Amino acid sequence: MLIRTSTIQSLLTSLVLLCCLFSTISVAQMTPRPEQKIALVSGSSSGLGREVAFRLSALDYFVIVHGRNEERGMEVVKLIEESGSGGARFYQADFGAFDQVRQFADNILRDFTRLDVLINNAGIGSSPATRLVSENGHELRFQVNYLSHFLLTHELLPLLLESDAARIVNVSSGAQQDIDFDNVMLERGFSGGRAYAQSKLAQIFFTIDLAETLADENILVNALHPATFMDTAMVRNAGATPRTTVDEGADGVMQLVTDDVGTGNYFVRQRAVRANRQAYDGEDRARLWQLSLQLTGLD
Ligand SMILES: NC(=O)c1ccc[n+]([C@@H]2O[C@H](COP(=O)([O-])OP(=O)(O)OC[C@H]3O[C@@H](n4cnc5c(N)ncnc54)[C@H](OP(=O)(O)O)[C@@H]3O)[C@@H](O)[C@H]2O)c1
Repeated sequence: MLIRTSTIQSLLTSLVLLCCLFSTISVAQMTPRPEQKIALVSGSSSGLGREVAFRLSALDYFVIVHGRNEERGMEVVKLIEESGSGGARFYQADFGAFDQVRQFADNILRDFTRLDVLINNAGIGSSPATRLVSENGHELRFQVNYLSHFLLTHELLPLLLESDAARIVNVSSGAQQDIDFDNVMLERGFSGGRAYAQSKLAQIFFTIDLAETLADENILVNALHPATFMDTAMVRNAGATPRTTVDEGADGVMQLVTDDVGTGNYFVRQRAVRANRQAYDGEDRARLWQLSLQLTGLD
């Protein structure tokens, strides 16, 4: 039987229209309700961030899932959607490139009118042991773990200010090492552990300063060491034996989202403690803040 070209064309048009309809439906399902709280968890395609995304969705948050790996990110979205609570959408961005962080922030500013919770969690651990440089020319861990979150947070502040009671949680670590301002990019004496520990202390500097800057706003800013050697890719890739679970780490993160925890504090799991001594040196913090504005182009 001969099928006329015009029939094939009209069949194809119907198919395209049907596909558009389905994709519109799926996008519509992934939009927060007007009153629903919205949380962004960087690095929620795996490990601790993934668990925190599930916890937030169970509390009916709409979760902005982020990572580099689209397949794993979409899997988190799918599991949240299947759970029937919350809702989620995945965004891909490599924090080793500032233009991707800016694009990510622009997309969030375009797609949402408010942000209630920002969990700065994405990170690279002490492995690999080699010194890597980002496409912006900075030591990679310092950029991914710290500078890119400094940039993202600044870009998203207008959305956080729209919330009645926003929280920023910086997922740092108990591994903290002084920042040597003559060697921030660790061109000398590099080790993966040192790079990781320096970037994690930088997050605590940022926490204290940002909390002070936002003291008159409805935004609480805190940092934590979630748990030691959780069973995640970061720990396994470093060849360490996991000692705790992401569930234990997520308890600490969630406390900083839901409880009365003040602002500008550093917690080990669920207990407020002092961080590395250098974090309380106002001059060093001011110096890092200024350098971060310069390096991210925010100045
Ligand atoms: N595991 C521990 O025992 C432990 C202890 C203290 C603190 N922490 C902190 O907890 C946080 C989460 O660590 P984890 O153990 O859950 O590690 P993980 O399982 O390796 O997860 C890391 C997450 O960060 C994302 N990420 C890595 N590099 C990125 C990049 N260049 N750009 C964008 N996203 C990137 C990953 O996304 P893709 O996989 O999609 O690339 C992934 O979602 C980190 O900040 C870490 O320092 C962990």
